Amino acid sequence: MRIEGIDGAKIALAFSGGLDTSVMIKWLQENYNAEIVTVSGDLGQEKELKGIREKAFALGAVAAYEVDLKEEFVNDFAFHALKAGALYEGLYPLATALGRPLLGKALVEVAKKENCTVVAHGCTGKGNDQVRFEAAVWGIAPDLKVIAPVRNWEFRSREDEMAYCTERGIPVAATKASPYSIDENIWGTSIECGVLEDPTAAPPEDAYQRTLSPEDAPSDSMNISIDFINGTPVAVNNEKITSVELVRKLNRIAGEYGIGRLDLIENRLVGIKSREIYEAPAATLLHFAHRELERLTIDKWTTRYKEQMSPAYAELIYNGLWYSPLREAMDAFIDETQKRVTGNVIVKLYKGTMRVLSRSSEYSLYDQALASYTSEDTFDHSAGEGFSKIFSLPLRTIARSKEKILTSVE
Ligand code: ARG
Repeated sequence: MRIEGIDGAKIALAFSGGLDTSVMIKWLQENYNAEIVTVSGDLGQEKELKGIREKAFALGAVAAYEVDLKEEFVNDFAFHALKAGALYEGLYPLATALGRPLLGKALVEVAKKENCTVVAHGCTGKGNDQVRFEAAVWGIAPDLKVIAPVRNWEFRSREDEMAYCTERGIPVAATKASPYSIDENIWGTSIECGVLEDPTAAPPEDAYQRTLSPEDAPSDSMNISIDFINGTPVAVNNEKITSVELVRKLNRIAGEYGIGRLDLIENRLVGIKSREIYEAPAATLLHFAHRELERLTIDKWTTRYKEQMSPAYAELIYNGLWYSPLREAMDAFIDETQKRVTGNVIVKLYKGTMRVLSRSSEYSLYDQALASYTSEDTFDHSAGEGFSKIFSLPLRTIARSKEKILTSVE
């Protein structure tokens, strides 16, 4: 199906350097006489972007941007999700979902600078990412045209695209294509396709990219100390480091201990259930440690309310509504809850498991004098009698009324 209104247009394309978006550069030039400006975002993926601009130029791009988004991604996206306790369907730390709005923003910025009237991305028509890209772009620039050629073009398979490349002399990497579709950034890796499409198939070891299996993890344990300020992690093992270094470091250590492998049948926004494997060592460890510090520092009622918000926040990110008033309002609430979440947590890592060893905070709400069962106890035990009597009053009322009902039936 032909895409309307893009003939001769200048198009900013989100370029990953992979097969789809490489073919896309040529395809848009050839079929629409378009001028292509590529935008490649560095979200801290291990697979470097090295040589990506040269690749874009070789394919005929008129300009090629490589933008370093690592710091912004960690500070303004991943750490927001961390503070919110955002895990989609209780597990997925949302690495891919968090990256899209930022890539969308970078795309819009380049489009504006280069006077592009159209932006393009490489997402398919059955995933969440198309929605996230488009909601992000339109949430910032409502008048830009957004296209997703994969939804329109004639290629039905990877082989079709390879044949197109061969015909046009486009060099394709000789390396054997991975059977998996992998999306990666500093907050985590998402892996699907191949044998993983069968929910009865346990993920083969080669599906994992950045973690050891718990079986292969070191046989000793490792204690990790993490300091937080207002819910944001700032130091590891008493050493203050930048947020990007911190996440990198924890990815390496926790990954080596087999932490953060997830296997999830999830509900996609487009209605289908899909099976995805995730690896998010740092995110998994940080969520665990952060939650432990919250247990110590956030009061009971705020905790209950925040627990309701966490899945809602995760869903909002998953559904691509980052640039929405609701997300901002939720962030305002969450930041308010994090005012006391400052302190230290020590976690023991051992063969894929995490245990909390210690939590401490100058804002701790844990009062040992109240909690203690020793002679140090300051709790007013006599007050317990009245409390318990009034607390259970509704139950006594109900029980008495039952007695009446039974009597009246007899
Ligand atoms: N299911 C994840 C999400 O919607 C990841 C999607 C991309 N996965 C991939 N393997 N390319 O956020």
